[in-house]
Amino acid sequence: MTLAVNAVNKQAIAGAFGRAASKYDTVAKLQQQTGEYLMELAQTENIGTQVLDAGCGTGFFSTRWTQQGKQVIALDLASGMLSHAQEQQVADYYLQGDIEHLGLADNSIDMCFSNLVVQWCNDLSRALREFYRVTRSGGLIVFSTLIQGSLHELETAWKQVDDYRHINQFLPLRTIMQACQPYRHKIISRQYCQYYPQLLPLLNSLKGIGATHLHHGCQQGLMTRKRLNTLAEIYPRHNGDYPLSYQIAFGVIYCDK
Ligand SMILES: C[S@@+](CC[C@H](N)C(=O)[O-])C[C@H]1O[C@@H](n2cnc3c(N)ncnc32)[C@H](O)[C@@H]1O
Repeated sequence: MTLAVNAVNKQAIAGAFGRAASKYDTVAKLQQQTGEYLMELAQTENIGTQVLDAGCGTGFFSTRWTQQGKQVIALDLASGMLSHAQEQQVADYYLQGDIEHLGLADNSIDMCFSNLVVQWCNDLSRALREFYRVTRSGGLIVFSTLIQGSLHELETAWKQVDDYRHINQFLPLRTIMQACQPYRHKIISRQYCQYYPQLLPLLNSLKGIGATHLHHGCQQGLMTRKRLNTLAEIYPRHNGDYPLSYQIAFGVIYCDK
């Protein structure tokens, strides 16, 4: 059985996130909420000092770990994100790299922290194997990822406008659970919903975090005012606002080697 979403274009992903780096922290509200929860999950365990922030982005959570006295390695695929993180001096070490092929020695870190990154992988099992390989015995891996059903309001609305694919396909929860099966672990799923007074800021929020790159090719159909208005008419409302829901899986893996 394969857990791959599809062969993703990593260069395109790195480019999309790199371009988003300068504005990322102002729009990445969901990432901040899930990352805080992931930190809480990690802090209930007694871990050492070496933390790998795998897919660190601008390094928002590298900073949080550094403030807690940890030695942090900030790693990201996107050079644009990593140089932004480095300018802010968020960590002790910076590494450009791919979480599916980590350039780190076996058992070299105490904790691997990865907030909303593994959904961009080819193969979740491979990324988890890499996290497990570099984490020492007794260490911890915590990660969060999007589950199938995320962004369903937008997907349903787009389907009524055209036949193009506008939303990435995320793994079902059972597939994420299967990928964790080789390890002692726990998985928690939570739903988050964000509300926007207008549709354009909702769409811009996805663009602002670099999440508009599609696994299955490129986005099609130019966003004209007419299409935006049609989408806005169809889109469901909650007390006048446009809701956008995310289903998030939080994984905790214990390294019993
Ligand atoms: C949604 S952002 C999350 C950033 C950060 N973890 C946070 O909580 O703000 C996803 C990040 O993962 C990085 N990324 C995507 N695929 C990656 C891969 N295969 N290896 C390493 N980083 C990757 C992107 O460049 C981007 O910075």
